[in-house]
Amino acid sequence: MGSKAIRTAMVWSLSVCFAHQPDCAGQSPGVPALPTTTQDYVGYAVTNLPSHFATGDVAATDNTPADNPITNAGATLGRVLFYDKRLSHNDGLSCASCHQQSTGFGDSNQFSEGFEGGLTGRHSTALSNAAYYERGRFFWDERAATLEDQVLMPIQDAVEMGTDLDQLRDELAATDYYPKLFQDAFGSTEITNDRIAGALAQFVRSMVSYQSKYDEAVEIGTIEEPDFQSVFTAQELLGQQLFHGVGRCSDCHTTHAQVAERPQNIGLDADNSADEGAGNGRFKVMSLRNAEVRGRFMHDGRFATLEEVVEFYNSGVQDNPNLAGALRTNGGTPLQLNLTQAEKNALVAFMETLTDNTFLTSDLFSDPFVDLPGDYTGDGVVDIDDYNRWKQEFGQSGDLWSDGNDDGTVNLADFTVWRDNLGRTWEDTAFGAALFASQVPEPSSALIVCLLAAAIWGVSRRRAPTPPRSAVVSCAA
Ligand code: HEC
Ligand code: HEC
Repeated sequence: MGSKAIRTAMVWSLSVCFAHQPDCAGQSPGVPALPTTTQDYVGYAVTNLPSHFATGDVAATDNTPADNPITNAGATLGRVLFYDKRLSHNDGLSCASCHQQSTGFGDSNQFSEGFEGGLTGRHSTALSNAAYYERGRFFWDERAATLEDQVLMPIQDAVEMGTDLDQLRDELAATDYYPKLFQDAFGSTEITNDRIAGALAQFVRSMVSYQSKYDEAVEIGTIEEPDFQSVFTAQELLGQQLFHGVGRCSDCHTTHAQVAERPQNIGLDADNSADEGAGNGRFKVMSLRNAEVRGRFMHDGRFATLEEVVEFYNSGVQDNPNLAGALRTNGGTPLQLNLTQAEKNALVAFMETLTDNTFLTSDLFSDPFVDLPGDYTGDGVVDIDDYNRWKQEFGQSGDLWSDGNDDGTVNLADFTVWRDNLGRTWEDTAFGAALFASQVPEPSSALIVCLLAAAIWGVSRRRAPTPPRSAVVSCAA
């Protein structure tokens, strides 16, 4: 969302924002534009899975609990929550601020910025195929016992989103649309922490990535013997052989989802004291799906490219007492692969076959929040309240909610934005708007003069600490 979108959509939660002072970021949570027809998460992530996900080793690692299966309405609610800035204390960021679809739901920054600008202690994990981790534990150090536990943690985390759950439930209940989304998902409008967690977990579990070039090879061949020859280039094929052979990569990055079984110490450092992770410098590793588009790798985001990762495994593994057995030679020393440059390039090329552009651009996972021009109060409807807000801010400049054309000043041009959209709702924006250019007259010149006078008085009042008592300005519409 651009700054314009943020500004124009803002202030649905003006009162909420004030309640959050002094650190109100003044950014809009906006309103979601959901399609009228149900989006088919169950089809995408459950019933239409290819057989190499629906059966065999991958299916065996599915951590979906019996009491929170993916439903279309549950994942739809989860999507709105995932992209809703209301989840952070100052309405400044959403889950998607640190988990972006274009990077496989990771972050291309080494560390991510939290709601007050503080940096996260570790690199944001990519979320592709989070459902396929048999131990069902989450975070690099596995401190969350389930995904349902995990998803409430960033909301309350002091650096990440800093939100009080009691307050969040009230904020959600005050919108026009959350009660209905909860009703659809869970049978009543009641908003509870468990329901918020359940919906977010359903959405995250629905992020299954299975339409890459690699998957094509499995589907043409069999689960046991994918037909890499028919699908891959010679270079990708060499990379695949190294990955499943002398590189030993598949010892840990296993199954057709390339998910590790348990946390391991890979010898990033000789001394693990900077971060012990899950203990003894061991870290969980997520599916390698969409690694190509991530931008940063490892729990501390130390590597910026897949080439650096490969060079690390080739020559950089550090000895330490907890180093994984798979990364030691028979003699006990850290493994050195001694690959040629062509072989290193091939390993990278193979990992790039795990990129799934359908997943990375699918509407199932995209941002549902829309910009509704003229909706200065951010309640999803362009109406008289927005006009009043425009009037209130007339003549002001800076980071303003009524600055509909984003030129830094609230003036007549912003009235035009309001007027041209009067009567629209966020639903119109979602479904392709009809014409709304309405018959609202321009404000009279007397009104403009009056508003200008009020604006100038407002500026001087801010400069002078004690304004004259008699100065009262009010302009009739
Ligand atoms: C300010 C950035 C930030 C925000 C906002 C954020 N996350 Fe994260 N997320 C991270 C970081 C950093 C990690 C890794 C932390 C760790 O492992 O110690 C992480 C880890 C995760 C994981 C673990 C994945 C795995 O396989 O173990 C999940 C799931 C997740 N986040 C979901 C969410 C959800 C859902 C939200 C919104 C409610 C959210 N995140 C908001 C930064 C963020
Ligand atoms: C002993 C098990 C093991 C072996 C063998 C192994 N890996 Fe890893 N891999 C891991 C673990 C654990 C991590 C996460 C470590 C961390 O962040 O501290 C990881 C991280 C990665 C990452 C970064 C993932 C991310 O989300 O940031 C890539 C890419 C990767 N490995 C590729 C490879 C390749 C290529 C090979 C073979 C040359 C290989 N791995 C061999 C266990 C292993």
